[in-house]
Amino acid sequence: MEKKTCKVAVVGCGVISKAYMKSIREFFSVLEIVACTDLDVERMNATAEEYGIKAMTMDEILADPEIEIVFNLTNPAAHYPITKQLLEAGKNVWSEKMIAVDLEQGKELVKIAEAHNVRLGVAPDTFLGGAIQTARYIVDKGLIGKPLTFTASISRDYGVFGEILPHLRKKGGSILFDMGGYYLTALANLFGPVREVSAFTATNEPERKGSRLDNDMKFFEEPYTVEVSNMVAASLKYDCGVIGTLHMNSDCLYTETTGITVFGTEGILYMPDPNRFGGEVKLQKLQSEPIVFPLTHGYQKNSRGIGAAEMAWSMLKGRLHRANMYLAQNVFETAHAIETASAEKRVVTLESTFERPAALPEGYIDNGFWGPMSEASLAL
Ligand SMILES: NC(=O)c1ccc[n+]([C@@H]2O[C@H](COP(=O)([O-])OP(=O)(O)OC[C@H]3O[C@@H](n4cnc5c(N)ncnc54)[C@H](O)[C@@H]3O)[C@@H](O)[C@H]2O)c1
Repeated sequence: MEKKTCKVAVVGCGVISKAYMKSIREFFSVLEIVACTDLDVERMNATAEEYGIKAMTMDEILADPEIEIVFNLTNPAAHYPITKQLLEAGKNVWSEKMIAVDLEQGKELVKIAEAHNVRLGVAPDTFLGGAIQTARYIVDKGLIGKPLTFTASISRDYGVFGEILPHLRKKGGSILFDMGGYYLTALANLFGPVREVSAFTATNEPERKGSRLDNDMKFFEEPYTVEVSNMVAASLKYDCGVIGTLHMNSDCLYTETTGITVFGTEGILYMPDPNRFGGEVKLQKLQSEPIVFPLTHGYQKNSRGIGAAEMAWSMLKGRLHRANMYLAQNVFETAHAIETASAEKRVVTLESTFERPAALPEGYIDNGFWGPMSEASLAL
């Protein structure tokens, strides 16, 4: 088979673009980033110079037949219009989370990708990392028996984050749509689609004043509004019968508390922060202490871009990629259903569905002299 790489252009040269640039160059040579664009021309030019790639306009990217995949790394509000434009121009798209802001926009993007026969992959891709794939191994091998229930929880201080990144306090950027993506996607990888949701959400202290002293105190004492929920307590029921609770609080102390615990008939699985690729996975069996389970899979360090690399591999091999739009749309619909259930005081039934993506092949070291194996390494 002839070696092939997919040429990539990046739209949005902000904070997260640097993580993509670094790890794709380090791990994923199936992807070759050749160009970038941004509304902020200075930022675009600086990125192009730093990484030795071309600064292009959006129209030039759309017109360039060599560019097969475009990364949409813009802020959530820009995901829908940019992804739509790219898909309609026949480009395969990798989008940062979530797929869109409004529920109908997500549905529409899925239809457009289908109609144009192009790929749409959506972050987060941490579920392809070593820790969550090991959790998946534990569940699939029956080591906790039949999974019955789970608790998933995160608390964070968006008072600090939200002042630096204002999109976190606007529609589409709440803890539910921002961090929620990691939790709901990790759970989707274990249990498949969510079917029913009930929930309460609320906003503590919506009217605030800036506390940051940087930028010549530009934001200090400036009034702003938290436009989204910062408290979430939800109950989720999966098609497979698993039920569980999701707790989120973005008005908490700075120190994060994170994690997912899955309770099965024959064991308990403790998962680390699903926003990370690695971390300790623990298994507790009857009348035993929890033990740290050796990670069965690779990509245990920051491997942002693994989802896009796997999408490129899937394009070469002619199969559906793992971080696909169907999974993403169910995650997105779940987040919306949580808000709807709370607002309308009812249980919400979801429409979307997807097939649980296959686990990645086991193994975390390449074969040295004999060369890395394609899918286990994903890299070459
Ligand atoms: N910052 C993080 O740690 C982090 C981590 C994981 C995921 N993400 C996700 O990545 C995405 C981007 O986040 P970020 O932190 O890099 O934001 P950012 O604000 O640092 O960067 C976004 C960039 O997109 C550009 N942009 C916005 N609209 C555009 C348009 N229409 N055309 C071209 N460029 C446009 C902006 O000018 C900006 O440079 C978000 O969806 C976020 O949820 C961020």
